Amino acid sequence: MRILSIETSCDDTGIALIETHDDGTIHILSNQLSTQTQHAAYGGVFPTLAKREHAKMLVPLLEKALEKYKGQTSVFYSHEMRTRLSEILAREPELLAQIVPFLESHTKPNIDAIAVTYGPGLEPCLWVGICCAKALSYIWDVPVVGVNHMEGHIYAALVGSEFKIQNSKFKILKPTYPLLSLLISGGHTELVLSEQEGEYTIFGQTRDDAVGECFDKCARMLGLEYPGGPKIGKLAAEARAANLPRTYTLPRPMLHSGDLDFSFSGLKTAVLKMLTELRGPTPSQYGGSTSTTHTVGPSYSMLADNDQRALAREIEETIADVLVRKTCDALTQSNAQTLIVSGGVSASTYIREQLTHLIATDFPAVTLLFSPRQLATDNALMIALAAISKVERKEFVDSEKLVAQGNLRLGT
Ligand code: KG4
Ligand code: ZN
Repeated sequence: MRILSIETSCDDTGIALIETHDDGTIHILSNQLSTQTQHAAYGGVFPTLAKREHAKMLVPLLEKALEKYKGQTSVFYSHEMRTRLSEILAREPELLAQIVPFLESHTKPNIDAIAVTYGPGLEPCLWVGICCAKALSYIWDVPVVGVNHMEGHIYAALVGSEFKIQNSKFKILKPTYPLLSLLISGGHTELVLSEQEGEYTIFGQTRDDAVGECFDKCARMLGLEYPGGPKIGKLAAEARAANLPRTYTLPRPMLHSGDLDFSFSGLKTAVLKMLTELRGPTPSQYGGSTSTTHTVGPSYSMLADNDQRALAREIEETIADVLVRKTCDALTQSNAQTLIVSGGVSASTYIREQLTHLIATDFPAVTLLFSPRQLATDNALMIALAAISKVERKEFVDSEKLVAQGNLRLGT
């Protein structure tokens, strides 16, 4: 069976093509990704810009993924089909302009389904991928499967520790249930419990900012570019290596709240307050604003290098402490046998180390699965993996009715 998948929920445009075999082997035939760098200066993802970039990049990525289907002669589509295609892509004129020549120059690929992320995420961005899936489905007469982006992140951790994209062949692990997933990304912070495959209950979630969002906003206040998580991680590691004094202490939000929810907006405010005290009033652009419309400039990075490193370490350790404590409580309450940690923030070395330590010391019977770093941030391969069982069960959607759901939830 072959699945073509599309991911456009945030700032990564992805196209993947996989082939599944009866013995469970999955073969990656293509995995194309284009990460938008244009947001770096804005301190966060700028939705209109992101949408435009998805529309620009989808067809070039499709061409790479399906290059073996490029024909010498042009494929003929009737006037009626062209009209229908224009209707399907009415909201995506840029995509329409590129997809027509692509379809005319490529024969129908040998695929059984098209999987597309339909939520959660930025709706204008989700629509680009959805419209593309609808157009391909119509022209090639291939059914569509809608995939929840967060389910994709869970499947990204089920590829096994030996997984390497370059090797291209692997099998999906069969985890022991109950399974707890800690999903930490730029848009989400969730603890999700699965009693069995494909069944999800939200155990805890953020009440305001997502953990990656908090990293990104704190980074911006420190004069660092988006995405901020890796930059804070690098400075924090330097602070540890240099054994810098612990000058800064931040509050650990919701650590003792008694439930499994998170809150990270207070941490951002605490960092802003600390910075204001340290270097006087910040430029009005900061002002605690969460807007993504102001640029970050190096001139606002007024802390001495070591102060910046020490503060980055305190931010990272505060976030890690909260994630570890809530995960510990969730494992205790759920009796989970497997812990999955996935999403962009799970690429953090320090957070991985702390969670590994928690499992080794307090839950030695629990199997800990991280998504490989290559799959921690958004990609289309994870969307194809999450689609496999849905395609097998023929859970196809009426593509006419498929709509973007920015706030789509995983389970209850
Ligand atoms: O999963 P993802 O690629 O996109 C969403 O679905 O949101 O996650 C992006 C987030 C950003 O907030 C980024 O700062 C964070 O993941 N991130 C990290 C690291 N790499 C990416 N945070 C901490 N440490 C990292 N190494
Ligand atoms: Zn994501």
